[in-house]
Amino acid sequence: MTTPRPETLAKLTPVLTKRWLSPDAWRIGTYEKLDGYAALRKALKAHPDDLIQLVKDSGLRGRGGAGFPTGLKWGFIPQGDGKPHYLVVNADEGEPGTCKDLPLMTHDPHSLVEGVIIASYAIRANRAYIYIRGEAVHAARRLRNAVQEAYAKGYLGRNILGSGFDLELVVHSGAGAYICGEETALLDSLEGFRGQPRLRPPFPATHGLYASPTVVNNVGTIASVPYIVLGGAAWWKTMGTEKSSGPMIYSLSGRIANPGQFECSMGVTLRELLELAGGMQPGHNLKFWTPGGSSTPLLTAEHLDVPLDFESVAAAGSILGTTATQIFSDQDCPVYATYRWLEFYHHESCGKCTPCREGNYWMVRVYRRILSGQGTHEDLDTLLDTCDNILGRSFCGLGDGATSSVTSSLQYFKQDYLDYIEGRTAPKLSDKQLVGAH
Ligand SMILES: Cc1cc2nc3c(=O)[nH]c(=O)nc-3n(C[C@H](O)[C@H](O)[C@H](O)COP(=O)(O)O)c2cc1C
Ligand code: SF4
Repeated sequence: MTTPRPETLAKLTPVLTKRWLSPDAWRIGTYEKLDGYAALRKALKAHPDDLIQLVKDSGLRGRGGAGFPTGLKWGFIPQGDGKPHYLVVNADEGEPGTCKDLPLMTHDPHSLVEGVIIASYAIRANRAYIYIRGEAVHAARRLRNAVQEAYAKGYLGRNILGSGFDLELVVHSGAGAYICGEETALLDSLEGFRGQPRLRPPFPATHGLYASPTVVNNVGTIASVPYIVLGGAAWWKTMGTEKSSGPMIYSLSGRIANPGQFECSMGVTLRELLELAGGMQPGHNLKFWTPGGSSTPLLTAEHLDVPLDFESVAAAGSILGTTATQIFSDQDCPVYATYRWLEFYHHESCGKCTPCREGNYWMVRVYRRILSGQGTHEDLDTLLDTCDNILGRSFCGLGDGATSSVTSSLQYFKQDYLDYIEGRTAPKLSDKQLVGAH
């Protein structure tokens, strides 16, 4: 394991993660000792519109994958419309490789609760929900406990801290479907229906939960809000780049010495993150990686110095996504990795639209053929043609995301495919697996 140099260590900007290593960080007492709920007191004295403006000025962009400007989203909520407004926190975190929201809720759940109260006050919502993925039992337990503690201290409920503002907060566990992370499927699931995406427009800002104005934001987005309220927009913008402001939790996994979460200013590079993570495991050399989960096109060792912000990653041909960097070495096979991701997308496809439902089903079969040594050169054209019929033609982003690793692995690693087809690489799947279980 290599030790990071001091100048690289200085790239760490612990803001959202700053309490994680404190003893009992998840308890309200610890949270209050470490600035907790000070932002709420400050926010409740401000006009809600000024808070929306503050978040706009900070340049905060959604941490759920698409990077939509948060203040702008809050500003879309119609005011004085006589309808209930809702804040829904997306804590589904299902993107393969992503591990930033669950540790945040496990270690510092009160930062999310405080963010929820401030955001609800800003958009004039008196009811908020945190939709957490079903498997995340430990995080949900910590979160529910934090909500109870916040009620007991008068941070939630009626007339919060004597401000006249009321808020009820419900933690709802989903049933573990990746599609329920897509915001409109999440709303359907929360309403008790089968989680499938809704047609847009109308957008959740006007017709969201129970057909009322709703903001859906990621855990990291909402947990950033107390820091912006306390530190100010100008301080927030001292971190990151002009268009991608603030710190970001990058989760690193794969063939590295020290996997985990590293919070750095947006625009840090993979070369720097790898140094922070102690480098590659002995005997492994970087071959390919995802900048933001498996729905983002693969990058290679050529891209080690691409700044990991929304614009620069897009310019390099990929997507920043959830900043889940999964790192693969020269001992890993991009064809097999893509096949395993496709198995996931095929399994998680909700079946509502034909391109994604059928396309992923067939692509899994083509991969099985290639990996069992029975592929043909035409299979590569079939894969690209199928991706062409999924990308931009699917009902939601799941279909689009499924094509990312297929097209990018064919772009950078066509030789690896040809080695299976032309018999230079031994088959990875048996004939039995070729048929598959479903
Ligand atoms: C298939 C799919 C899964 C998604 N999963 C998540 C998720 O687990 N968590 C999340 O915050 N956003 C997820 N999103 C993005 C949400 O639809 C939405 O953009 C996000 O919650 C908005 O929050 P933000 O503006 O704070 O980023 C997913 C999108 C798609 C298409
Ligand atoms: S793209 Fe896939 S997940 Fe999305 S609606 Fe269509 S079938 Fe469902």
